[in-house]
Amino acid sequence: MAEATTAGAGGMTRREFLYYIWGASLALFTAEFTGLMVWFMLPRFREGEFGGRIPVVASSLPEVNDEPLNVPEGRFWLVNLDSTNPQGQERMYQAEDEAEPIIGVAAIYKVCTHLGCIYNWTPTNNRFECPCHGSKYRLDGRRIESPAPRTLDRFKIYALDADDNVVAESPQDEETGFYLPLVLPPETVRFSVDTGDKKEGPKPQLLCEFTGNCP
Ligand code: FES
Repeated sequence: MAEATTAGAGGMTRREFLYYIWGASLALFTAEFTGLMVWFMLPRFREGEFGGRIPVVASSLPEVNDEPLNVPEGRFWLVNLDSTNPQGQERMYQAEDEAEPIIGVAAIYKVCTHLGCIYNWTPTNNRFECPCHGSKYRLDGRRIESPAPRTLDRFKIYALDADDNVVAESPQDEETGFYLPLVLPPETVRFSVDTGDKKEGPKPQLLCEFTGNCP
């Protein structure tokens, strides 16, 4: 017994050796367990499911200022905007405080920025309307009437050519980082909307204040 715990010449005792082995095994097990937990907790989304990238063919894009395209699997509305185009001005127009034209494609998250209800496009009124507390939004998602606190959120869009090369992606507002409408290069064949990359809308003035008909 005394032999088992006695150090060899210039070496460690058998008991020390066993402690080291036990410690190393424990450390290895902890590292493996932690790695597995991280792997399980990291979100993994496949293309085509919410949280990942949703493919949309360019030919399904609505006409300029036309009613939005509902993309249920991505939980967004796809809109094609041009505030300078007389076509569809009842849906998309330029407000007094908007110095620059609003032109391009945007993917708008389908959840109201007030308390998270699912709003809808109301064709008779040419705007998005939330059934819960009455918020209204213009075709591009800007608030017409509150209680919504901000413009509808948007996802990032990638424009792809026939070889699936990215030829353009949603530009961002310099101040807020909000995704601005994307002007499509002519070689665009399809889009990819990244539903894992969403930016909150800004908080500009209510549009009803310009027309003096806020409720
Ligand atoms: S949740 Fe849409 S107005 Fe309240």
